[in-house]
Amino acid sequence: MTKVLLIGNGAREHAIAEAIKRSGCDPRLYSYMKTNNPGIASLSHDLRLGNYDDLAAICTFAKDAGIEFAIIGPEDPLQNGVVDALSEAGFPSVGPTRSLARLETSKIFTRRLLEKYSIPGNPRFKVFDTPHAILDFLKTLEEGSVIKPDGLTGGKGVMVQGDHFSTPEEALLLCETILKTGAPVLVEERLDGEEFSLQCFCDGKTVVATPAVQDHKRRFEGDSGPNTGGMGSYSYPDRSLPFLIPSDIEDGVEITRKISEALFKETGELYKGIMYGGFMATKEGVKLLEYNARFGDPEAMNVLPLIKSDFIEVCRAISKVH
Ligand code: GLY
Repeated sequence: MTKVLLIGNGAREHAIAEAIKRSGCDPRLYSYMKTNNPGIASLSHDLRLGNYDDLAAICTFAKDAGIEFAIIGPEDPLQNGVVDALSEAGFPSVGPTRSLARLETSKIFTRRLLEKYSIPGNPRFKVFDTPHAILDFLKTLEEGSVIKPDGLTGGKGVMVQGDHFSTPEEALLLCETILKTGAPVLVEERLDGEEFSLQCFCDGKTVVATPAVQDHKRRFEGDSGPNTGGMGSYSYPDRSLPFLIPSDIEDGVEITRKISEALFKETGELYKGIMYGGFMATKEGVKLLEYNARFGDPEAMNVLPLIKSDFIEVCRAISKVH
């Protein structure tokens, strides 16, 4: 029997729960959820409801159940250090430590990582701690700008010229609002192209990609309305996306491989979990919008049912302590 702890209660975690239950490793699922998802509950041998910052409750549940490993669905518990807490309690995880989860929780960390290790994919960007010089930089961004606060924003913190503001002067006001909270602000050039989500398994040394998916960001049909955290996602029946060429995927995978190496050099830790790159295929090649340290929600639903390998075997290989 293989006892697995799953943290999270969304559609993504329901897809993960189903992948676990499809395994031939005699799975027994234990679920820790913030609010009850009846679909996940129906697949679970046992469950607990609780907050994602209650690391003691999560570790107690893991101990009581005697799990082999945990898989973490959403970003909040990763930011709270649930993988570190479970590791101290003797349980490996599919999911990065708090330090490695900065790949998602700090956009500035990731931009600087690419820059430091000469990894392609960064747009032009600058980080500002004060308003001084922001306007000068904004005026150099002829294709428009994007303003990003540094931390987790639930997919709603990024402000794009044309959608949220019109002029460099308006962008400066938004930057000043962020700076007043005491946080730095990331200013980037606006990219033009087609976005794709590339979710990769990573054991810290090897990166294996799942098929690319597109997350539909606009609220209304016909690509109209405001940008959202994601309205739904899709790929073609043959698992392709019609606007991508094979080298776009290869470039996204190569960037992700280089990131996993850079993370090890930077922190001395192996990244064990999912690296989900949000990329844009542009005229100048593939650019990185951001990384997430987990499966996409809902993109997990597109790829997990396609995986022919035994999902528990994949997770076991990732979470194994080297
Ligand atoms: N679908 C976007 C995300 O999971 O962040």
